[in-house]
Amino acid sequence: MLYSTADQDPLASMSSSQKHVQVVILGASGDLNARKLVPALYHSWQRGNLSKYHSVRVIGIARRPWDEQLFQEHLEHKSPAAEEGKSDGSWAKFTELIGYCRVHLDQPADYEQMRKYLDNLHQNNEPLVRVFYLAVKPDLFLETVANIKRVGLFDDSDSLCTRVVVEKPFGHDLMSSIELNKSLGTMVTERQLYRIDHYLGKETVQNILAFRFRNAMFEPMWNQKYVELVQITVAETVGMENGRGGYYDQAGALRDIIQNHALQLLALVAMEPPASLKADDVRNEKVKVLSSLRKMEDISPNVDPETHICRAQFDTYRDDKGVAEDSETETYIAIRTYIDNWRWGGVPFILRTGKCLKERFTSIRVQYHMPPHTMFGSYDECHLRPNHINLRIQPNEGIDIAFDVKKPGSGYDMKNAALSFNYSDAFQRPSPDAYQRLLEDVIGGDQSLFIRSDEVEASWQWADSVRRYMQKTPVCNYPKQSWGPKEADKLFGECEGRWATK
Ligand code: BG6
Repeated sequence: MLYSTADQDPLASMSSSQKHVQVVILGASGDLNARKLVPALYHSWQRGNLSKYHSVRVIGIARRPWDEQLFQEHLEHKSPAAEEGKSDGSWAKFTELIGYCRVHLDQPADYEQMRKYLDNLHQNNEPLVRVFYLAVKPDLFLETVANIKRVGLFDDSDSLCTRVVVEKPFGHDLMSSIELNKSLGTMVTERQLYRIDHYLGKETVQNILAFRFRNAMFEPMWNQKYVELVQITVAETVGMENGRGGYYDQAGALRDIIQNHALQLLALVAMEPPASLKADDVRNEKVKVLSSLRKMEDISPNVDPETHICRAQFDTYRDDKGVAEDSETETYIAIRTYIDNWRWGGVPFILRTGKCLKERFTSIRVQYHMPPHTMFGSYDECHLRPNHINLRIQPNEGIDIAFDVKKPGSGYDMKNAALSFNYSDAFQRPSPDAYQRLLEDVIGGDQSLFIRSDEVEASWQWADSVRRYMQKTPVCNYPKQSWGPKEADKLFGECEGRWATK
């Protein structure tokens, strides 16, 4: 085992029905809570996934001078769950689980109050799982965790198991992520820590492992011998909405999407089969892939950097609020990289993301080599395309397998064809939201869909090398609602090049 969390969950041997649950959301007056966390908990409760526990409470923590009633009214205005559960009375019933405690997160004295409030809700010594969800700005992370620790709220016992959930960004480069991991490590154990990357909660992302390792027919062709190129795309139509310009201008596409969401997709698509689906078995394999990513410094100096990185800004980006007039921050980036291991040696992986693009979609396209010889005329004449498998992560969730067929009639005229599987045809109801699955896993104590500290550090190590290398390339431009800069086409190099559009 590469990594071991010796520390044990004190309630591991107990059944769910013995456990009480408190989900404590710090930063509960914010957008994330109303838009994502409360709907996720509501759906989970409504579908009966929480009924296996003895009891469940959801406690909002924020500095607004509210009581339970006012907090619920706030959620009624802001949360889509309230609207959804209005007609059948389920929202009103759900709100019976909700509590509120006023705390100024930057005032240490207030945390004592929070401790008393939480302990009051649970006076007997029955088994309790207490989850702290940090829906707070990154600059408050450490201070908040330190304050919770100081008032003894992380002290697990035979009847208490605490967990803490943190949102990205986990640092802004390798050094800061090491520092952050180190500081968090002095206050909570790796077993208590749940680093969320919401992409891992998406049904189609979890299906990557099922598709690869539950089916015998794809895996034998999932390597450098057959695969010519892998494209991972996270294309977005949104720009700097909701006043995000200030944050985004400091982050850019590399830190905002590639270092986390895109690299997680890459790890799942490229990893070796884990021994089991246990958290550490899966995460050990992901770390191996992330550590095998070729650092950009290791690319030969004779290579034109523009064949490996294309960074760009959409045309009106600098006019957005919070964005510097002379900003060089990339709103689009495409990177050609390699996984230097036995399975993938020599196969380019192109990672691409951008804001204000023509369409919103996320996909992983595994492109196969052309046949070594064709007796059907030249490839161009016959419009032959490489075969590919496209894992459509969102929004049209599904899988396409693309190949060529002979057109009926004389001769061997060819046509591109595909077999497609669509979630919407195969399953009656939409997939649960990513946050629902992730919150259920935190409550249930399953860390397999959460990021371990060594994964974070391996991702930053590579992302830092990209950041340094991209200084060698110009910041290109692209019009809004386009597919991005033309210059990115250079990344295909010798491969048959065609960008995924779904
Ligand atoms: C977030 C990024 O992590 O993911 C956002 O900070 C981005 O910039 C979002 O828009 C995309 O998530 P999804 O689930 O809509 O693809």
